[in-house]
Amino acid sequence: MAAEMSPSPSYAADALIAQDIDAYLVKHQHKSLLRFITCGSVDDGKSTLIGRLLYDSKMIFEDQLATLEADSKRVGTQGQEIDFALLVDGLAAEREQGITIDVAYRFFATDRRKFIVADTPGHEQYTRNMVTGASTADLAVILIDARKGMLTQTRRHSYLCHLIGIRNIVLAVNKMDLIGYDRARYEAIVGDYRAFAASIGVTDFTPMPISGFKGDNVTSVSANTPWYCGPSLMAHLETVELDVTADQARPFRMPVQWVNRPNLDFRGFSGLISSGSVKPGDSVRILPSSKTTTVSRIVTLDGDLEEAVAGQSVTLTLADEVDCSRGDVISVADAPPQAADQFEATLVWMADEALLPGRPYWLKLGAQTVTARIQAPKYQVNINTLEHTAAKTLELNAIGVANLSTDKTIVFEPYEANRTLGGFILIDKLTNATVAAGMLHFSLRRAQNVHWQALDVTREHRADLKNQKSAVLWFTGLSGAGKSTIANLVEKRLLRMNRHTFLLDGDNVRHGLNKDLGFTDADRVENVRRVGEVAKLMTDAGLIVITAFISPFRAERDMVRQMMAAGEFVEVHIDTPLSEAEARDVKGLYKKARSGQLKNFTGIDSPYEAPVSPELRIDTTKLTPEQAADLIVEYLIP
Ligand code: ADX
Repeated sequence: MAAEMSPSPSYAADALIAQDIDAYLVKHQHKSLLRFITCGSVDDGKSTLIGRLLYDSKMIFEDQLATLEADSKRVGTQGQEIDFALLVDGLAAEREQGITIDVAYRFFATDRRKFIVADTPGHEQYTRNMVTGASTADLAVILIDARKGMLTQTRRHSYLCHLIGIRNIVLAVNKMDLIGYDRARYEAIVGDYRAFAASIGVTDFTPMPISGFKGDNVTSVSANTPWYCGPSLMAHLETVELDVTADQARPFRMPVQWVNRPNLDFRGFSGLISSGSVKPGDSVRILPSSKTTTVSRIVTLDGDLEEAVAGQSVTLTLADEVDCSRGDVISVADAPPQAADQFEATLVWMADEALLPGRPYWLKLGAQTVTARIQAPKYQVNINTLEHTAAKTLELNAIGVANLSTDKTIVFEPYEANRTLGGFILIDKLTNATVAAGMLHFSLRRAQNVHWQALDVTREHRADLKNQKSAVLWFTGLSGAGKSTIANLVEKRLLRMNRHTFLLDGDNVRHGLNKDLGFTDADRVENVRRVGEVAKLMTDAGLIVITAFISPFRAERDMVRQMMAAGEFVEVHIDTPLSEAEARDVKGLYKKARSGQLKNFTGIDSPYEAPVSPELRIDTTKLTPEQAADLIVEYLIP
């Protein structure tokens, strides 16, 4: 496609590019930027419309604004006219090729504004792409084919745009030329949409009759629709109020991206102002510590400012030496955002592996990164009917609502009020892949009302009395690897050495505390989480705890490690090859699993993730259980 798209050399996108590239860049630098997304079904004419906007605005062939501004030489050769039909074909083909990876961002500019449009595929299986594209958009153009009227996709996309917090929605009723510019038909579609929009909480939208193919009402008002009194799409895009303008009216908040300390005399806090405005002399509050101070200076590369507003990146210096580090939020003193560690949130799941309730994920919100655990969803939204249905997990592209807890307090605002302080992503700790995008609704009240009770008798007192140091010997390995046998021997040896111990064994705990759990991935995560918490309490009681669970997942073993005091967690891999465990088959379970009578059996149809660097690895094909027990006791008490 790229070859066919080769431009004819006769036309420059903007005469300035050729004549005076510096003047051209300056001119564009000071224009406001509107980010928007186009949504619609496959044949609603999305590519044609984008092509029309690019074509009529004398597009510049650059995907990224940044590249444009950084690399002036390339711009000079690329802003050229091409054939309209070829352009549209090219855009469509490019998107088809790119769909599985991401979102195509296209840049264009007019005399009044710069634009970045996110072009995403329409099918339901690309919900995550659409959410990615919408997450930075100020405006959404929802396309409807005038011949077809509202479709499921119209509802889905409108719901998603609203969910993501896009406040400006344009309803572009397209292909008006194909229905003879029929006003009654247009108004019926707008009426249908108005009723639907109200049902999802969208109170305002801007309808317009257009033809992307013919150009009606795209860049200029069309004579074919004399009954339409609104602006052309382009005129609307050029004048619509930007989110950043609305954000400026809100209370001041700036998440601290980094702390600048070039020398002892200067300490500045840098970040992007997410809402409001700030002046030297303003009293501010640092969250979560809640300390107050005053702004001394607003420093930028171009000198100090008298005032800075939402959308600007600045460095603030403060009157007092208060603690403030990366991830903290500087806010106006008398209307600070909240801080909490338990929330209700909407999640859009974006990974092939489903959500595992209870698993620790990284949660990134602005400059804050914490560990978060998601509970089983309260419900999932059927994105086609908007019904709420029960769900145990969230699969790829699913949208649901769940409670979550974080290991540290985070500063936040409800997503509705502040996209920066309410929007977050979840990251898999092992693969570093982004698995979900989320929106915080509110903090759970119990988070504020449950406090940690300080106790006078400490864990050290309890352990000292027993003449030992608390520890957890965490055994992991396949079923039948020998965990229970070796753990039992270890406990007997420790007892003989007058140590106070407790052995938690998988099969036994599953008869009591965890008898409600089975062997799905989610249940195993919860099994290990509970055992981890119990082991933690026992180490607080001063005991040496031995656990014997398959504990097949690295993420949860690492989670328990993090819960324990430094050096207290000893991971012991009872390493028995599957073939050996299966040959022993002490409980006859492998036979059952192979014959299909037992589902989700570890090593057969459920994974086992061996530890990467355990404190001890016991090769049971080389050591007897007694030798193994000696080795482990020797490690613990040299
Ligand atoms: S874990 O994976 O959640 O850590 P746990 O150690 O508690 O497992 O329980 C494993 C024991 O349950 C095994 O030793 C075996 O006796 C029994 N069991 C029953 N069904 C399964 C299964 N599907 N997979 C593994 N073990 C099973």
